[in-house]
Amino acid sequence: MTGIKLTDVHYEVDDKIILNQINLDVRSGEIISVMGQSGSGKTTLLKLMTGLVCPTSGQISVDDQDICRLTPRGLDVVRLKMGLVFQYAALLDSLTVYDNIVFAVRRHRPKTSRRELDELVETLLDAVQLEGLQDRYPAELSGGQQKRVGLARALAMQPSLIFYDEPTSGLDPLTCFAIDTLIVNTRKRFGVTSVVVSHNIPSVRRISDRVALLYNGNIHCIGTPDEMMASTDEVVSEFMHADDEHLAVSETR
Ligand SMILES: Nc1ncnc2c1ncn2[C@@H]1O[C@H](COP(=O)(O)OP(=O)(O)OP(=O)(O)O)[C@@H](O)[C@H]1O
Ligand SMILES: [Mg+2]
Repeated sequence: MTGIKLTDVHYEVDDKIILNQINLDVRSGEIISVMGQSGSGKTTLLKLMTGLVCPTSGQISVDDQDICRLTPRGLDVVRLKMGLVFQYAALLDSLTVYDNIVFAVRRHRPKTSRRELDELVETLLDAVQLEGLQDRYPAELSGGQQKRVGLARALAMQPSLIFYDEPTSGLDPLTCFAIDTLIVNTRKRFGVTSVVVSHNIPSVRRISDRVALLYNGNIHCIGTPDEMMASTDEVVSEFMHADDEHLAVSETR
């Protein structure tokens, strides 16, 4: 299993500070959720953790290796441990579900036999409850199905760290619940460490060991879902109870 540690991470683009002095220790095997307003830097944080961008200063260590100091080849090796489920499913439109799922396996483990690939796709489609859809093209799937194919694709390389960028946004509550269950089962089944960016409070409460709230470029607060729900900090409370307020508004109508 793999942990990830951010030490004094600072990230600027064109002199604009996006993230400032981020310190975060994602423990091996835990599910940590990252919340924050649109534009607060959640996707950027995932890009930093996966080595897609380098911080302006600070350190990001995966299993005690500073990923910003690795050679491109060294970084490739570390990234093989990582699965990324993108905010938008980001499937390759011209490839079937099958070919999307095995894309990285074919590239990085070219000796895998057709039979092994078939078995892998069958197991993964079963895990994401999309049995029998291997020959479909992304355009023939619903948004929720595409997201689940994105998860199957991320799992195909058997990562020890998995990053989910808003896996349940835009989904109905039942599909949301199914994705949450998948995230939790994926941890149970494969022992992965998970970082989940989400706006969905019920999801966050269901799946997370800890929740981190990004605010003003910083991790404003971090704690268990119960601690965050009970927090008296104004920013945290406003965020964690945003849904209650919407409910209150709808009740007054
Ligand atoms: N490549 C870039 N160049 C310039 N600015 C960028 C770049 N990438 C991100 N930003 C800026 O960084 C900030 C954080 O963006 P990011 O995508 O991380 O936000 P987010 O929290 O994921 O938002 P959302 O909830 O809308 O997905 C935004 O102000 C965005 O405009
Ligand atoms: Mg984002």
